[in-house]
Amino acid sequence: MTELNKISLKILSGGKGILAADESTGTMTKRLQSVKVPSNEENRLQFRKTLFSSESMKDCIGGVILYDETIKQKTGTKTIPELIDESGTVTGIKVDTGAKTLAGSPDEKITEGLDGLRERLKEYYKLGARFTKWRGVYAISDKFPSKLSIHSNSHALARYAALVQESGMVPIVEPEVLMDGNHSANVCFEKTSDVIKKCFDELILHKIDLTGLILKPNMILDGVNANNKIRNDEVADLTLKCLQESVPQEVPGIAFLSGGQSEIEATENLNLINKKNNTKFIMTYSYGRALQKSALKFWSKDIKDIKGTQKIFDHRANMCSLAAQGKWSKELENQD
Ligand code: 13P
Repeated sequence: MTELNKISLKILSGGKGILAADESTGTMTKRLQSVKVPSNEENRLQFRKTLFSSESMKDCIGGVILYDETIKQKTGTKTIPELIDESGTVTGIKVDTGAKTLAGSPDEKITEGLDGLRERLKEYYKLGARFTKWRGVYAISDKFPSKLSIHSNSHALARYAALVQESGMVPIVEPEVLMDGNHSANVCFEKTSDVIKKCFDELILHKIDLTGLILKPNMILDGVNANNKIRNDEVADLTLKCLQESVPQEVPGIAFLSGGQSEIEATENLNLINKKNNTKFIMTYSYGRALQKSALKFWSKDIKDIKGTQKIFDHRANMCSLAAQGKWSKELENQD
C-alpha cells in the first residue's frame, strides 16, 4: 500500500467522509450574508472552529477541506490544522484559484491556479495539509459542456493532480456537472459519464497513481428546474452505473459533492447508493452545504452558542456517516 493510498483510506474508510469548509471568502460572505452575520475574518473563523471542535469529528469526519485563509489561522496557541488533527482528522486545502471565463467558449468556465502551484503546495504541506481539492465546473445545455471545456478542464485537473502527488499529498479530483437547468437525469448521466471518462484519460496520461486519488463527482440528478423528477432509488442506480462504467477500478473511493441538494436529499441519496453499491469503491460524502446549512442557520441566531451549534452539526454528520454505510433511515433522522 502506498502512502497516498493510506491517506485516502484514512479519510474515507469506516463510515467517514469529508467536510468541505473551503468556501472562498466571496462564497463564505454570501453564506454569512444569507443568515445576516457580518463576514469578517473573526466570524468566519468562529463558525468554522465551532465545527472543527465538534464531537462527531472523530467518528464521522475523516478529512476537512480548508481555504487559504483558514489554514493560516489560529485558535489560542493552536493552528487550525492542529485543532483538526486532535480528532484524528486529515487537513486538506483547496488549491485552485477559481473558475474563470473560458477563452474560446465564453459561456463556459476554466478553473485556474496552476501557475506557482508547486511552490504553494510545499507551503501547504508544511502547514499540515495532506490532501487537496481542485474543482472543474461544467454547465449542461444542448451544446454544453463543449469538447473544448471538457478537454481544458480535464487537462488542468490532471496537471494539478500530478503536482499534488509529487508533493506527497492526495488530490481530490472534482469535475462537477451542475444541477442548474431543466435537463433530465439521463442527460446528466450522459454528460457526467463523458466528463469523468475524459478526466481519467488525462489523469492516466499524466501518470497519476490512481490508488492515491479521491474522485469527487456529482450524483446523477434531474436538472433543478426539470418538470419530472426521478425517484431516489433511480438516482442511486444511475449514479452507480455511471461510476462503474467511467472510473478505473484502482481508485479507492468516491466522495460526492452535495451540489445544492437539501441536507435530507443528499443524505437519502447517499444512503441508497450505499445500500445498492455493487462496485468496489467506497462511496461517501464531501459535503459543504449539506453538512453546514442547519448548523449555520442555528449559529447565526447566537454566535456564542457553541454547544447548540455543535449539536446540530453532530446530528448532520452522524446522519451522513450512517448514509455512507447504508444504515440511515427517516426514523433515525427524526429521533432526538
Ligand atoms: P457542496 O456540497 O455545497 O456542493 O460543496 C462541495 C464542494 O466542495 C464544492 O466544490
